Amino acid sequence: MLEIKNLSKSYGKLKAVDGVDMKISRGETVVIMGPSGCGKSTTIRCINRLTEPDTGEIIVEGKNILELSDKELLKFRRKVGYVFQHFNLIARLSVLDNVMFHLVLAGLDRQEATARAQLALAKVGLANEWNKRPGNLSGGQQQRVGIARALVGNPELMLWDEPTASLDPILVREVLDVMEELVQTTKTTMVIVTHEVSFASKVADRILLMDKGKIVEAGTPAEVFGNPQSEIGIKYQRLIAS
Ligand SMILES: Nc1ncnc2c1ncn2[C@@H]1O[C@H](COP(=O)(O)OP(=O)(O)OP(=O)(O)O)[C@@H](O)[C@H]1O
Ligand SMILES: [Mg+2]
Repeated sequence: MLEIKNLSKSYGKLKAVDGVDMKISRGETVVIMGPSGCGKSTTIRCINRLTEPDTGEIIVEGKNILELSDKELLKFRRKVGYVFQHFNLIARLSVLDNVMFHLVLAGLDRQEATARAQLALAKVGLANEWNKRPGNLSGGQQQRVGIARALVGNPELMLWDEPTASLDPILVREVLDVMEELVQTTKTTMVIVTHEVSFASKVADRILLMDKGKIVEAGTPAEVFGNPQSEIGIKYQRLIAS
């Protein structure tokens, strides 16, 4: 459902993403890992053009996302759920309004949007918190609101950029549990950037390891962590063994 060809993005002299290729099938869960600064966020941000790449192609269902008009891009983004590291919730809106905001913007009537938002909140275990402001929730709860917001449009593709990286370790578990449940119960295609090795081993159909803007290894968790070929893969293997 998603094919990336020769994607590159530079910031000045720095090649943040340097010729990345990947092909992801419908329903697949792909986890991208690699050291800080290797280009993971830039890669997934390019998929829905939060970042504009310099060169390459991003083909979704036969269409090159990089050639869409502004209107077509908006329509495409409605089918893509994006979960940010820092939640990106709107502080003055209630939890419910944060989740339904984009549905209402897209023209759905309020009653239908409310019903769908409540369903999405129930899926992340927050049915009773709908009326609170984000500031009155724990970080883990705030991220679960972020997940409900990404889910509410019934996305065909979900992109996750280190969704647990700003949480304290005790709260990481509750968010990983929600993510794992989603991977297992929905057929949505998922591209997840994370540093959580054991989570990746459990949920990934395929792991892509990046280093210095390139994909240096790809395979099942057993292949990548069990018999790594790249320097980065060997570092992860040692991490698991320690
Ligand atoms: N808007 C920007 N302007 C300048 N440099 C940037 C910008 N965004 C990213 N970079 C640089 O591009 C490189 C890749 O960044 P990116 O955020 O994709 O890495 P990452 O793998 O997601 O890292 P992390 O694990 O720390 O989130 C880094 O060196 C980063 O400093
Ligand atoms: Mg990042």
